[in-house]
Amino acid sequence: MGNLAIDHVQIAMPVGGEEAARGFYGGLLGLTEIPKPANMASRGGCWFQLATQQLHMGTETDFRPAKKAHVALATKDLDAVRARLQAHGYTISVDAAIDGRRRFFSEDPFGNRIEFLAQRSRETVASGAAVTIRAAIDADRDAIDALHRAAFATTEFGYQGEAELVRALDADSDILVSLVAEKAGSVAGHMVFSRMTVEADGQPLSGAGLAPVAVEPALHGQGIGEALIRAGIAALREQGCAISFVLGHEGYYPRFGYSPELAARFASPFAGPHFMAMMLDSDAAWPLGGRADYAPAFGRMG
Ligand SMILES: CC(C)(COP(=O)(O)OP(=O)(O)OC[C@H]1O[C@@H](n2cnc3c(N)ncnc32)[C@H](O)[C@@H]1OP(=O)(O)O)[C@@H](O)C(=O)NCCC(=O)NCCS
Repeated sequence: MGNLAIDHVQIAMPVGGEEAARGFYGGLLGLTEIPKPANMASRGGCWFQLATQQLHMGTETDFRPAKKAHVALATKDLDAVRARLQAHGYTISVDAAIDGRRRFFSEDPFGNRIEFLAQRSRETVASGAAVTIRAAIDADRDAIDALHRAAFATTEFGYQGEAELVRALDADSDILVSLVAEKAGSVAGHMVFSRMTVEADGQPLSGAGLAPVAVEPALHGQGIGEALIRAGIAALREQGCAISFVLGHEGYYPRFGYSPELAARFASPFAGPHFMAMMLDSDAAWPLGGRADYAPAFGRMG
């Protein structure tokens, strides 16, 4: 005894609920459906793969939604999941963090209570591996230049003048947040949020663009970029900024709450699948439409 582990959990739904279950667990939450074994397929229901366990949706004739007992799903992209649920009309009820892990409750289409909570952070920055996030100062300028040259040289587009961009944004006084990650006395990462001109539903809205962000190539994948961006977003919130945009990889930025669906509502020269946005107050309603322009220094990039 004592060697028990959860293999799968089952959630009940009414007979004929498969399409709604697929729309929610598959479409909205992005779980992959797995085939039911042939000898069980005739009972209806549908199964989904979680990271290591499975979630089985089973039909019940006398169905009543589970309002107290619930499944808790952990995700790296808590803010993005929340934004998606809200955008599709699901209600969110935020509860106190457990062990520093933020969480909220919602319901599936059948009224079953579901908890979502932030996945434990990796053993990196959080474990205090001597990385400090702090505001950039003038004495960091040369190190920041060198960092952007080295980091962007490793990308598919190559170095495109990001160091000059940072200096131009600074000269124009368009920098809202500039943070460095310092490791063993050296600049290991840097990120900037710069002022944008945003109009939403006919009104000006305070906006900030995330760019550039770079981490020393030898230190990629240790959570330094994530720590910088999270600290930058917190600083923007403190400044009362309403909306942030980023042009980047759709596999990376949604974990912070950035959504291509929100950005798609804004006309911009950068519009496209890599253009993402987030409301910094996650309770704020999404504007229906508008326009978003980066600071003039971006237009002067080569
Ligand atoms: C983007 C960058 C700042 C991320 O910094 P980092 O410290 O390596 O990031 P983290 O350790 O916090 O996160 C690593 C995660 O980001 C993902 N990631 C980073 N860049 C990515 C990219 N271009 N495409 C897809 N995924 C990317 C990694 O796959 C990894 O995913 P995982 O957490 O699911 O394993 C860093 O890779 C970098 O300096 N790149 C070169 C400059 C650049 O491209 N800047 C962004 C311009 S939009």
